[in-house]
Amino acid sequence: MRPINIGLLGFGTVGSGTARILLEETDMLQKRVGSPIRLKWICDRDISTDRGFPVPQQIMTDSLDTVLDDPEIDIFIELIGGIEPARTFVLKAVSKGKHVVTANKALLAQHGYEIFQAAALKGVEVGFEASVGGGIPVIKAVREGLVANRIHTVMGIMNGTANYILTRMTSETMAFDQALEEAQRLGYAEADPTYDVEGVDTAHKLVIMSTLSFGKKITLSDIYTEGISRLKPLDISFAREFGYTIKLLAIGRDGKDGLELRIHPTMIPSDHLLAQVRGAYNAFYLIGDSVGKIMLYGLGAGQMPTGSAVVADVVDIARDIISGAVKRMSSLGLPLDSISTAGIKDPASIQGRYYFRFSVKDRPGVLSKISGILGKRDISIASVVQKGRGEGSSVPIVMLTHEAREADVQKALKEIDALEVVSDQPMIIRIEDLTSLQE
Ligand code: NDP
Ligand code: HSE
Repeated sequence: MRPINIGLLGFGTVGSGTARILLEETDMLQKRVGSPIRLKWICDRDISTDRGFPVPQQIMTDSLDTVLDDPEIDIFIELIGGIEPARTFVLKAVSKGKHVVTANKALLAQHGYEIFQAAALKGVEVGFEASVGGGIPVIKAVREGLVANRIHTVMGIMNGTANYILTRMTSETMAFDQALEEAQRLGYAEADPTYDVEGVDTAHKLVIMSTLSFGKKITLSDIYTEGISRLKPLDISFAREFGYTIKLLAIGRDGKDGLELRIHPTMIPSDHLLAQVRGAYNAFYLIGDSVGKIMLYGLGAGQMPTGSAVVADVVDIARDIISGAVKRMSSLGLPLDSISTAGIKDPASIQGRYYFRFSVKDRPGVLSKISGILGKRDISIASVVQKGRGEGSSVPIVMLTHEAREADVQKALKEIDALEVVSDQPMIIRIEDLTSLQE
């Protein structure tokens, strides 16, 4: 059997994990595929730094043309990240008839259709398992394993870095900046870590997951996105007192009044399985009409888990090449021209429960001013906690609400923020009282 030849661009965290598996597991992969999977080229700007495992020097190059102009290369793996020049390189590989594997969710969330269309025209495949959930085979699960279902909910913890930070802040009261530094050192964070902490990376993943799950065209601007950078240790300890854990939750729901797509710090019951997802682990909680509730769990970032997902795509494509089944399935699991534009539910109309933290001057009458504004907007308070005495300085007042409408909450908070006694921008955290997975 002829070998399947691979050209890999980007020898960083994920590139190293991928190359390591391809170089160290050649026998196992050949046995499983029926043909040798040969890593023919590794291309990077830096081809001399030791990545911690032996790499034959003759496969290293800093010339991308050497890879793309090599007619033997069947599969091009893009692992440099970012939009440009990654987009140009991927399209160039496709135009040369090479299959593509990428972990680049930013690129797919913004230019996925262009790439999938170009690949469909050229008759090549695009694998992107590693773009969502690190080592968790969630793309394959949705596109293939759950194909018999109408999926109406896709929800989860989709960013390892943010979850790592929240976990360290919760269990060890570590400072935000220190936890972020550790996540970067461990290779979890994006080149620009604000993508992780401000929810942008999660939004890229929710674009991909909701497109696959709901079969609708979704863009980044359809998603309400809020990150974790404003959270204080105080919010984490208040949440714990109320029986909640704070997670950066991505929520996608296909309802009768459109798609609800949002990402924000969320208080979920501490005894829910999603609250037990710690460190760089991710979890995807899906509900399908036939299968019911499904949860997929595993490491959502890091060198070897993500390398595992990249190699899984390589093997899928290699098997299709060998069996003559290339293009047996469209990249998104259904023909691109059958994907319709999504109707998006207005985030202002969403109903839910809320946690508010106000920093206020410790004076008589403050609480009644705040509760008066909330009452005027039909926001009913379920509990109130005030801790400590401020003696001229600020104290936190924390409230949990009953069900309220987002639009009313936003208007009320704007009014409260303008009060002279309020010394800092109010903190708002949405509450999702998720039912147990067994119910
Ligand atoms: P790294 O920064 O660790 O690796 C990228 C590598 O590509 C670096 O060695 C970089 O060199 C090199 N590179 C960048 N531009 C070029 C270029 N034009 N030509 C040649 N080499 C280039 O990133 P990661 O491995 O962490 O991420 C790669 C992709 O995988 C991204 O899309 C990311 O979002 C995605 N991803 C990452 C995960 C993770 O856990 N890290 C998990 C899932 C997906 P230099 O250092 O000199 O810039
Ligand atoms: N920066 C990403 C994360 C990498 O932390 O989840 C995995 O996609």
